Amino acid sequence: MQKIRKAVIPAAGLGTRMLPISKSVPKEMLPLVDRPAISVLVEEAVAAGAEDILIITGRGKEAIENYFDFNVEYEKKFADAGKLDQIEEMRRVCSSANVYFLRQKETKGLGHAVLKAKSFIGNEPFYILYGDDVIVSETPVCKQLATAFEKYGKPCCGVKPVPWDQVYKYCSLKAESNGDNTYLVTDMIEKPKPDQVFSNLSILGRVLLTPDIFDILEVTPPGAGGEIQLTDAMRKLAISGGMTAVEYEGERFDFGAKLGFLMANVKEGIKHPEIGEDFKKFLLDFVKTI
Ligand code: UTP
Repeated sequence: MQKIRKAVIPAAGLGTRMLPISKSVPKEMLPLVDRPAISVLVEEAVAAGAEDILIITGRGKEAIENYFDFNVEYEKKFADAGKLDQIEEMRRVCSSANVYFLRQKETKGLGHAVLKAKSFIGNEPFYILYGDDVIVSETPVCKQLATAFEKYGKPCCGVKPVPWDQVYKYCSLKAESNGDNTYLVTDMIEKPKPDQVFSNLSILGRVLLTPDIFDILEVTPPGAGGEIQLTDAMRKLAISGGMTAVEYEGERFDFGAKLGFLMANVKEGIKHPEIGEDFKKFLLDFVKTI
């Protein structure tokens, strides 16, 4: 199986749906209990074989870069207390892969952010993890895409069915089942009007692309919302040679939205080894009062 060594995490978006906190805290730094979303994403990419990870950032996103640095003050405190395992755990976060940063400078859309990764990627297939989509799964979703890439030899996107009355907020795929949990995608549209909807299958959070996407992105004009849309570029791949959609195993939480962020923390909070049981007891009592 071909190893996918590189990943790109676009994290430069303004996060308007998470205002006011996104004025000074990047939404990608919002916690899943005690780890920022971006850390969960990096761990997923690493678990799927990525060694070099490029995070696309922007103004006000310095906290992301700081998170992947060593913390000498904490380390000294732990060393003095003989807590060497805590130092190791903190270093693990920033040593599991080579994490690089690049600024998008202008937030012209997800496609524009991905185009920034062109020279970093070179000539190999790569993962894209949308910076505000946290997915909890048995098998890392990136790995599920790599398996489908190996089997069908086409660029892949991770998909889920979304409620029919919500399709207009996402993208819609023209897709034919391959007889397993995958589909052959021959067309797609971002934020469709009711008469443009192909299906309720939408791309949610993860894709595995080949470098030919960059030539397409370079000539992709702004689309929905006036932004350069990755979907518009992937549409060209889908129409020309087809893409594979993988209906992935795992639960996706939208950290770009208040409800998704809270749901993720409740669902993962009750599993947390340190506070999970107490949190569950609290919730069980609390729901009786509402
Ligand atoms: P979103 O569209 O969900 O992010 O992009 P947004 O633009 O921040 O959202 P709102 O509407 O203002 O709330 C998906 C991912 O792509 C990144 C975002 O950071 C997010 O992780 N992105 C988006 C960029 O890196 N650059 C952009 O220009 C737009």
